[in-house]
Amino acid sequence: MTSTAHPPAAGAAVEPPPEMIYEVEQVVSEWMARGITDMKHVISVMMRKGGAGKSTLTLLLADALIRFGLNVLIIDMDPQGNACTGLGRKVLMRAVEARIGRSTLEEPDVNTVIEVIQSGEPGVADEAILLINTAGWQYPPDMPFHRGGPLRAGKIGKIGLIPSYKGLEDLPTSWKPTDFERLAQTLHLPAEPGGVPPAHRWDVVLIDTAIARALGVQSAKAAKKVLFVTNAEKFGVDAIPETMSLVEDVRDHYYHDDIDVMGLVWNAYSPRQTTARALTADAAQAHAAKQKHWDAPIWPFEIPKAIVVSDSHDMAAPVSAFLGTSEKREPASKVCQVAEAIALRMLDEIGHPLAGELRAAWRQAWPEKEQTDVMTKGVA
Ligand SMILES: Nc1ncnc2c1ncn2[C@@H]1O[C@H](COP(=O)(O)OP(=O)(O)O)[C@@H](O)[C@H]1O
Ligand SMILES: [Mg+2]
Repeated sequence: MTSTAHPPAAGAAVEPPPEMIYEVEQVVSEWMARGITDMKHVISVMMRKGGAGKSTLTLLLADALIRFGLNVLIIDMDPQGNACTGLGRKVLMRAVEARIGRSTLEEPDVNTVIEVIQSGEPGVADEAILLINTAGWQYPPDMPFHRGGPLRAGKIGKIGLIPSYKGLEDLPTSWKPTDFERLAQTLHLPAEPGGVPPAHRWDVVLIDTAIARALGVQSAKAAKKVLFVTNAEKFGVDAIPETMSLVEDVRDHYYHDDIDVMGLVWNAYSPRQTTARALTADAAQAHAAKQKHWDAPIWPFEIPKAIVVSDSHDMAAPVSAFLGTSEKREPASKVCQVAEAIALRMLDEIGHPLAGELRAAWRQAWPEKEQTDVMTKGVA
């Protein structure tokens, strides 16, 4: 672990930057506005393989959803904190004095998912949410959607983040069986009787998961739906039944039988690679033949392999920021259209009240000559 160069003086209050302060009243989802109380919109993005594209898909979906004008909460449940880094909000460690002795200890500069899980109290998730300042992200409100602007005039949604850092790695060692519900409790129960559960303020809640088993179980217990993402490579495909077996475990042994794997999407896909084509065809076959642990419906979406995706991670900017005048506009538009199609399919699956309206607006928003085949594919 690294320590900060200038630790704050003992007892000094460290204020987060003003744009990071989250006030619960600021975010009202369409669910809340309409008094809809089921919570199918908490989605765990899973695949038990590193580099499968979980964090990438999470970030791409957040980009699409806020340009649709929806509010999205991202919960980073991976000790690596890639979702945080991708949003430009890496958790920093600051030194604190040990109560005895001369050694220095470290603590994160903000509340994280660790504090949320440790508390486990109903509604407490609200207290760890950072509002991401997207003002620097090029969502010019007067730009057309296909150039990176909002789908509905002037309406850019909010991104909330519950961050994570390395410390999450060690947390599960102390968990007893009942502790696997802690994240769920903090999100789905209100802080006070009759209050609003944190998850309810957001149109979509995305949990970016880790491969560690216990963290996967905790994430799945907090979610109502699961979305799989993986790359069309041997190890990527092998991880599909493995991940499904974890979900089944959560159903059967952790008493969460209403969890539903809504789909699988392919990431970093190159249609010209024959192995990739063969592997996706095999996967479709395994699903059709109802092979064990192959029940995830395969959505007809492939996120292309594109340098603009890793560029966006490096720059902590959304891929849609490249839709303006950038020379990467063409690959960015392909990636964005797939992400938007996946986001819309997801909104269909969770029964979001605006799903139909947004899809209709989206089809109008891309100029005909730029439309790829995803515009008409995969409607639930
Ligand atoms: N579609 C893509 N095109 C190009 N690079 C990608 C793409 N998807 C992911 N990557 C790169 O692959 C790496 C792993 O992706 P990531 O989303 O972090 O996987 P996971 O979260 O499942 O571990 C990252 O460095 C990312 O930049
Ligand atoms: Mg990741």
